[in-house]
Amino acid sequence: MERTLLIIKPNVVMKNKTGEILARCEREGFVILGLKHLILSPQEARLFYKMHEGKEFYEELVEYITSGHIIACCLGRENAVRRLREIVGHTDPAKAEPGTLRAMYGADIEHNGVHASNPDEDPLSEVHFFFSTHELLS
Ligand code: PPS
Repeated sequence: MERTLLIIKPNVVMKNKTGEILARCEREGFVILGLKHLILSPQEARLFYKMHEGKEFYEELVEYITSGHIIACCLGRENAVRRLREIVGHTDPAKAEPGTLRAMYGADIEHNGVHASNPDEDPLSEVHFFFSTHELLS
């Protein structure tokens, strides 16, 4: 079973939408293999978003993701990485297809509500940023 990472970002956690989003993922055939509620430190957030270091939005991205509790979730199914990206939708909620998670829960490109691993950026290393092997269902 392929694994990928979903993060529910602070403003969406605050709106109490975690259950809705996880239920949607289960309906789409994903199995919740790992789940954590946490606050990232600025150092952890900088490391997680290292690929965006130097971009003009980097510091704001770090500020947003550290502004409250997040949910980190390891999801599994066949073709998990690509399928989750489809369900999550375009990075910019204004351009996301209706019914995608960012269209439903994102505010704008800087506060887009959820993160899903990018197939070009080593999804498994993102999973293991948050989870050790023994914390995941096998
Ligand atoms: S992705 O999902 O990695 O393919 O998309 P990408 O465009 O590389 O992700 C960019 C992440 O940075 C956040 N962000 C912005 N992107 C573009 N422009 C602006 N101004 C901007 N501000 C913030 C965007 O929300 C993406 O965060 P994640 O957590 O990956 O969704």
